[in-house]
Amino acid sequence: MESETTIEIEVHLDADAAATMRSDVRRGLLAAPKELSPKYFYDERGSQLFEQITELEEYYPTRTEREILAERSREIVAAAGCPATLVELGSGSAAKTRHLLSAMEAVGCLRTYVPVDISEEITHSTAACLVEEYPGLAIQGLVCDFERDLERIPADLEPRLIAFLGGTVGNLYPDQRRDFLARLAALMESGDRLLLGTDLVKERDRLELAYDDPAGVTAEFNKNVLTVLNRELGANFDPDLFAHVARYDSGEARMDIRLRSLAEQTVSLDVLDLEVEFAAGEEMRTEISAKFTRDRLEAVYAEAGLELRGWFTDAAGDYALSLVSLPGS
Ligand code: TRP
Repeated sequence: MESETTIEIEVHLDADAAATMRSDVRRGLLAAPKELSPKYFYDERGSQLFEQITELEEYYPTRTEREILAERSREIVAAAGCPATLVELGSGSAAKTRHLLSAMEAVGCLRTYVPVDISEEITHSTAACLVEEYPGLAIQGLVCDFERDLERIPADLEPRLIAFLGGTVGNLYPDQRRDFLARLAALMESGDRLLLGTDLVKERDRLELAYDDPAGVTAEFNKNVLTVLNRELGANFDPDLFAHVARYDSGEARMDIRLRSLAEQTVSLDVLDLEVEFAAGEEMRTEISAKFTRDRLEAVYAEAGLELRGWFTDAAGDYALSLVSLPGS
């Protein structure tokens, strides 16, 4: 008998996302140095610009991760012990995920896909496409902020492969990263595996070009966050009075992405009832993007109570997918 295709999607959105944004932005602008959360890059325009970034010649991570998945998903699925469930944190349109789903289908282990994403719309449309493409697939989606709602991931669908792609783990600060990985470890059973995408250390020039393309798409993406604050918080940032800055900090092994104020200026945010002064040349961080080595990642996993079990890179060694488990399991 053919198993039945099912779609179930649970929604746990922040009841007051607007209040969260107000307090995040207030805290960031009052901090020294100032900082904005990368969460607010992705309005409609920001998501379009990021999509364009991923298509730039200079921005290798997306393309390279896709190549590794296209070429090695069979091997990854076998090394992961042929999981019944694929959980994906930040699933979006699941473009890259199809390589994993197809590999699971080919070995006959595929039962359930658990997409976890902040966008309800994309989760519904992705689910509808996937049940067409993978007959018999059960979809148990979660619409939430996975950093907040990680513990809602269904526990009864083992063995699971939990994919966290796109290098997003590199956008967390070391203490946030350790806490996040430790929370994942706490959810995992011995047969579960984590698949983590991370960008790797390389020459400064290539890194800086990947985050500051000559066509200026990345600069526009970075400045778009100011437009978001103008619209959502009644702010009056002039994007032309800020410059995009993308520097590789080799000591911390991370890209440090900022907006630099080109003049002494005062910005007001009506909704926050706040006025903020910027000195000429003052920089405000908008994102970090850590770059790893295999040794450093082993230490990162160990610190969170996890163990590196498999390592998949492209031929040039630009990007890695790590397969990770609980120690000894
Ligand atoms: N998470 C992506 C990364 O670290 C996001 C990104 C790409 C980004 N280019 C950017 C963020 C420029 C800010 C500015 O690679």
